[in-house]
Amino acid sequence: MANEKTFSIIKPNATLDNNIGNIISIFEKNDLRVSAAKFAQLSKEKAEGFYIEHKDRPFFGELVDFMTSGPVLLMVLEGDNAVTKNRELMGATNPAEAAEGTIRKLYAKSIGENAVHGSDSAQSAEREISYFFEKNEIVDRF
Ligand code: CMP
Repeated sequence: MANEKTFSIIKPNATLDNNIGNIISIFEKNDLRVSAAKFAQLSKEKAEGFYIEHKDRPFFGELVDFMTSGPVLLMVLEGDNAVTKNRELMGATNPAEAAEGTIRKLYAKSIGENAVHGSDSAQSAEREISYFFEKNEIVDRF
């Protein structure tokens, strides 16, 4: 599998619990490299635009409120098979279903406060990366 980039967010519950380093450590131990990073407080508009595909879901308001409730770390991760690898490392969306050792099993509190977001496909990664980063803010690591 070729080298690729994916998009990751360390969500407010994990930044507030001081688990940024623990989560990046899991990425790095599994050969994903940080190609870009921004620590940010999302506005309501920015969070709504990011999650626009969920706008008709009953949890949309709760999701936007949570994602704007504290700081987030926005990242581009790069590595072999990065989209799939990141999803494996994150574990299931609902931490109750996440496998042992996954980021969500370790650091999520609930399906909403689930510690991390990761792109679900190469196409989503492209959209999500360009939603937060300019090309000149991303550094190739391989
Ligand atoms: P994420 O990978 O960021 O993509 C969409 C998010 O919606 C998801 O992680 C969850 O945090 C959130 N989500 C999904 N289902 C629910 C739900 N039933 N209640 C609250 N939040 C949810």
